Amino acid sequence: MTVAVAPLTVSQAVEHRRSIRAYSPEPVSHADLEEILRLTGLAPSAWNLQPWRFVIVEDPALRRQLADAAYGQAQVAGAPAVIVLYTDMADTLERLDDVVRPGTEPEAGERFTAQVRGVFAKQTGAERETWAAAQGYIALGYLVLAAESLGYSTSPMLGFDPAGVKKLLGLPEHVRIPALVAIGRGAEAGQPHHRHPVERLARYA
Ligand SMILES: Cc1cc2nc3c(=O)[nH]c(=O)nc-3n(C[C@H](O)[C@H](O)[C@H](O)COP(=O)(O)O)c2cc1C
Repeated sequence: MTVAVAPLTVSQAVEHRRSIRAYSPEPVSHADLEEILRLTGLAPSAWNLQPWRFVIVEDPALRRQLADAAYGQAQVAGAPAVIVLYTDMADTLERLDDVVRPGTEPEAGERFTAQVRGVFAKQTGAERETWAAAQGYIALGYLVLAAESLGYSTSPMLGFDPAGVKKLLGLPEHVRIPALVAIGRGAEAGQPHHRHPVERLARYA
């Protein structure tokens, strides 16, 4: 790993993170990207299905094309890498045995996979993919904090044409893309936090 800073604690990363839309051209090392994605993969998901997948777009020409699909958002072409976070429930269900924990008794593993397949068999493909995309947003939260913790800034984005991004990257039509995430060393401070106070959001019952 080539992380240049001591990892921030979770609360430090949460306090420090902002959406950053201007980046230094310094590349993100693959060791750091893989550590960020390993940490991201520690996110919880229902039944531990982990339906998230990633394409890391580094090639400048491809990033410019990706920026076109993202309505010209400058951070897509301007960051050294953009992580396309997508979710694929068809792949998840095809390879369900991958999520059975090591050491599980074979009958218990079969009961688990049969139960999960049974639940999703009652849904349409689109419903299954919507379910997977919701899990993907858990991974998004982990991704931006893991990156921040290791000294990288991010810009999560929903402003893109999913069909255009899928076509550009050769992704199957059925997948969902919860977010594009520009990542790199930030070259601006970002906006100060502006958030609802807890009492506006929560009540005790
Ligand atoms: C799912 C999601 C989609 C977003 N889409 C965009 C986007 O397309 N373009 C953009 O500039 N910012 C986008 N943002 C950033 C938000 O505007 C930003 O998180 C919010 O204003 C709070 O600011 P902060 O991230 O600096 O704390 C997105 C954020 C999230 C979580």
